[in-house]
Amino acid sequence: MRPSLLRYAAQALRRRDYSSAAAAAERKVAILGAAGGIGQPLALLMKLNPLVSSLSLYDIAGTPGVAADVSHINSPALVRLHPPACIPLLAGSSRVKGFVGEEQLGEALEGSDVVIIPAGVPRKPGMTRDDLFNINAGIVKGLCTAISKYCPNALVNMISNPVNSTVPIAAEVFKKAGTYDEKKLFGVTTLDVVRAKTFYAGKANVPVTEVNVPVVGGHAGITILPLFSQATPASNALSHEDIKALTKRTQDGGTEVVEAKAGKGSATLSMAYAGAVFADACLKGLNGVPDVVECSFVQSTVTELPFFASKVRLGKNGVEEVLGLGQLSEFEKEGLENLKGELKSSIEKGIKFAHAN
Ligand code: NAD
Ligand code: LMR
Repeated sequence: MRPSLLRYAAQALRRRDYSSAAAAAERKVAILGAAGGIGQPLALLMKLNPLVSSLSLYDIAGTPGVAADVSHINSPALVRLHPPACIPLLAGSSRVKGFVGEEQLGEALEGSDVVIIPAGVPRKPGMTRDDLFNINAGIVKGLCTAISKYCPNALVNMISNPVNSTVPIAAEVFKKAGTYDEKKLFGVTTLDVVRAKTFYAGKANVPVTEVNVPVVGGHAGITILPLFSQATPASNALSHEDIKALTKRTQDGGTEVVEAKAGKGSATLSMAYAGAVFADACLKGLNGVPDVVECSFVQSTVTELPFFASKVRLGKNGVEEVLGLGQLSEFEKEGLENLKGELKSSIEKGIKFAHAN
């Protein structure tokens, strides 16, 4: 039977996808914490990213199953599983490997261009992100020590909370190892931007896909400062009360999910989406795509604080330029002053931990 026109077109499209993926730079991405609530859907999304030629999935448990599962997806891929005993080979150009246990961490990391870290415990109702510090600080420190050894040039996308402290911990670990490059360390705050866009679009009644809202500061409560005065498309339909409510909802977005999940963790699916958006931006920057701009919590001189989230231009070496705050409304200026105390103490807590341990 002759293939229908539709099937013929689909085959042609697939061939084109394969050839364009082959033309892209070979990029290795590692996900640490890959078997978790964020890690699994993030692994799926990174497997679908045509810029990724090799995907390493690392966790302290459960990774081979996730890797086997993800590896069966027929995105352009030569899929290799770990351990090598169970290697089904498919056609294509990217590899998915699952690693479990510390002894395999080095292999998972070696040669990585981007390392994404969603390893660590999530919140339960009634907890703050800072309540996760005692467990997650040690996890992040251990993983960053391995990164400094096995892939010191990788861009590190820190998802593990409290981001306001885990990023400073990572910086101190890298400094101690002599591998710190401030252009390559990112706290992932993309979920705040994703939320701000969604909530703004709903309230301003504008198409969500066209919305842009910068979110600055940090990633916890009042340190999350959406700049709705700079939102595009601009809306004059929103009152000051609307902006206050949108700001509060963005700041409390994580808690909204934690409460809705009622003890079963925090945002995973929206976070995986946000993590994939940010990692994709990092990969595009590495590949020389011009004008890639995302908000991220990075080493900064935008304020007097050593780390701060703002718009960042991404390039071949990671951060190409940390962009300023632009014009703020009076309400946002007040929010900026109010967040500094908490953000400063979270940063200092991270630095102190890294020095003491
Ligand atoms: P989860 O418990 O579902 O998954 C965490 C995974 O980390 C688990 O599979 C666990 O085995 C693994 N893990 C623990 N220690 C590890 C280690 N030493 N090495 C490798 N893996 C290790 O949690 P989750 O819902 O995926 O959330 C993970 C983290 O992400 C939490 O700290 C959470 O607060 C944070 N988070 C951040 C954002 C953000 O916007 N930055 C959004 C959502 C969640
Ligand atoms: C979020 O913003 O959803 C995450 O930081 C997870 C949390 O604990 O709220």
